[in-house]
Amino acid sequence: MRIKRKRGWELPERLATPEAVYHGRRQFMVGAAGSILLAGLSAPRRAEAATDPSAGLYPASRNERFVLDRDLTPEEYATTYNNYYEFGSSKDVAEAAQALPVRPWTIAIDGMVEQPMTVAIDDLLAKMPLEERLYRHRCVEAWAMAVPWSGFPMKAFVDYARPLDSAKYVRMETFNNPDVADGQNASWYPWPYIEGLTMAEATNELAFLVTGLYGKPAPAQNGAPLRLALPWKYGFKSIKSIVRFTFTDERPVSFWQELQAEEYGFWANVNPEVSHPRWSQASERLLGSDERVPTQLFNGYAEFVADLYKGLESEILYR
Ligand code: MTE
Repeated sequence: MRIKRKRGWELPERLATPEAVYHGRRQFMVGAAGSILLAGLSAPRRAEAATDPSAGLYPASRNERFVLDRDLTPEEYATTYNNYYEFGSSKDVAEAAQALPVRPWTIAIDGMVEQPMTVAIDDLLAKMPLEERLYRHRCVEAWAMAVPWSGFPMKAFVDYARPLDSAKYVRMETFNNPDVADGQNASWYPWPYIEGLTMAEATNELAFLVTGLYGKPAPAQNGAPLRLALPWKYGFKSIKSIVRFTFTDERPVSFWQELQAEEYGFWANVNPEVSHPRWSQASERLLGSDERVPTQLFNGYAEFVADLYKGLESEILYR
């Protein structure tokens, strides 16, 4: 059987528009009508922003423990240059992602837990300690951004889910609805998007479940209403629009691993000295500028996470 396989991170030439050019064009298109931000939103997105039941929870108070070594990426870049393959393989998916209904949104918790359950996103939000954190984000494609996420520590969610002691991993799953997400009609991808963590990673203080950014509810293209932020790992581990958490004793096989195991693995920790098979990971381009900066081991978060990998040196930790 011949399967047409699109390679994960190969960008066609036409999509490799330099950011300044790309955004210059976009600003020109939306600039004239007062607020650039609102003018840039489609009618459904404006309606959603106005009616989001969680809007009053933001901005959340900032946790000052997490500091940046660089400027924040302007919101306009972080919300218009996205990877969200459910809505297409270009970076320009923000408009298409508005088709995703983010309410009602129910999250299933199952597998090795005391009691399987489902919880609506707004009920979950009411139970979780909301805060804002400034994190770096490093995509495996060698671009990076720094954003103010709002959300809650994944540890608080794991405590709420009450996994059994026998659970070793948590497997997460994105929605699967090809009627709203056209990319999911591409049969060569192993939908739905899956990611996984060890329990030690999931309960590490850096692991953060995101519901907002830039002091507002997260827009669909950034993974509303619930996504992960794992700043020490390549960005593909930070799964968007999660509908299921399954606690298990089997190591989950992730979406990209299933597609191209020789390039994308389970651990995917950032390491400038371990190249991707097709490009160097030594430096990264900051979104919204042409500046390149050196990439750091664990994306600069070694003090929080290096101990998690002691004794695991025989594993493929860095891709
Ligand atoms: N989650 C889902 N469900 N689908 C995706 O395509 N892309 C990943 C990650 N989470 C992706 C996903 C990749 S490769 C990156 S770099 C980040 O989301 C991008 O997040 P951002 O668009 O908010 O910058």
